[in-house]
Amino acid sequence: GDIVEFYGAHQAGIATPSPNFILFAAFDVVGTSLDSVRALFKAWTAAAASMTRGEPVGEESGNDHLPPTDTGESAGLSPSRTTITFGVGPSFFDHRFGLAGKKPAALVDFPAFGGDELRPEWTGGDIGVQVCSDDMQVAFHAIRNLSRIGRGKVVLRWTQEGFQRTGAADPKGATPRNLLGFKDGTANPDTDDDSVMNRVVWAQSADGAGWMAGGTYMAVRRIRMRVEVWDRSTLADQEQTFGRHRASGAPLGGKDEFDEVNLEAKDASGKPLIPMNSHVRLARGDGSAQILRRSYSYSSGMDNKTGQLDAGLLFICFNRDSRKQFIPMQQKLGQSDLLNEYIVHNGSAHFACFPGVRQGGYIGDTLF
Ligand code: HEM
Repeated sequence: GDIVEFYGAHQAGIATPSPNFILFAAFDVVGTSLDSVRALFKAWTAAAASMTRGEPVGEESGNDHLPPTDTGESAGLSPSRTTITFGVGPSFFDHRFGLAGKKPAALVDFPAFGGDELRPEWTGGDIGVQVCSDDMQVAFHAIRNLSRIGRGKVVLRWTQEGFQRTGAADPKGATPRNLLGFKDGTANPDTDDDSVMNRVVWAQSADGAGWMAGGTYMAVRRIRMRVEVWDRSTLADQEQTFGRHRASGAPLGGKDEFDEVNLEAKDASGKPLIPMNSHVRLARGDGSAQILRRSYSYSSGMDNKTGQLDAGLLFICFNRDSRKQFIPMQQKLGQSDLLNEYIVHNGSAHFACFPGVRQGGYIGDTLF
């Protein structure tokens, strides 16, 4: 069906299949009242559960001298596999709400990475909300109503829309291609394998912050692609950059997309087929640190300063402990990835995504 259940052991929007569109929003909390945050999270839970079922938020009052309860633009639209995933950033645990003692050790401020050109307008946030949906209007409706409900308690800090090819354009649901033309997501962990998910993605109570058990840490990076530069590089260069073939997605040295990545393979002169600084080799490392990638492409019009496209990847990954997985991986990539010639990271955020909400509970209830 086109309903993805909101309640469950884990939040939806992490291990569930990626719908066609994303609208990501970071909020900052206004004021210092923990009660007000708790009340907001309760109200957001009810609204999110309704909206993911395709229902309006709240009951209409019937009084036409009042603004309607729901903004109305998703009336009659299907649930569209909408998921709404909530997390809190490191700044949520500063002095304001008395929660500093509960901050998970894994929820660090990211260190500066090589090649970062972070801009405040796409960075940070007390609260992160990821809305994914097969319909952009439904996704917009969700963020709009959440921010409306949060009026006076939270303010929007930044947002980013993104897309993948739609189900209509690719009914078979092959691995989507990013805007550099390569299949992206091939070597992702198996989300159906609980033991893999418990090792790679879901925080465990033994990890320290007991309230995060069943949750996960989310790294968001707004990565602009220098598409004009990329488009002047040769196909051979492009394939060496990733270590994979563009058309098939096969690893260099292989034939099919899901062929094993053989980092030992060499050409006749003894040169590795998958270059030492290729993206796939560096990201894979010795295979001990993995992440679950769930990224979307973005296109945000034109960079008015240069007349170039502002397009790229809204990189999103989930992992059990960013200090052991995402951070060391990005440190390596930031230093020597061949891809760095063609990208620049200009936004960044880190969130602790709550465990799933049980019926009758609310987002973050294990924390409060
Ligand atoms: C693999 C693209 C950023 C981690 C890949 C692949 C492509 C790709 C085409 C090969 C296919 C696949 O297995 O999915 C990109 C682009 C990026 C980007 C265009 C930026 C615009 C990142 C970042 C990280 C990352 C920031 C993490 C810090 C990985 C990992 C793999 C991968 C772990 C799988 C490696 C393996 O085990 O084979 N990426 N990526 N990527 N990427 Fe990226």
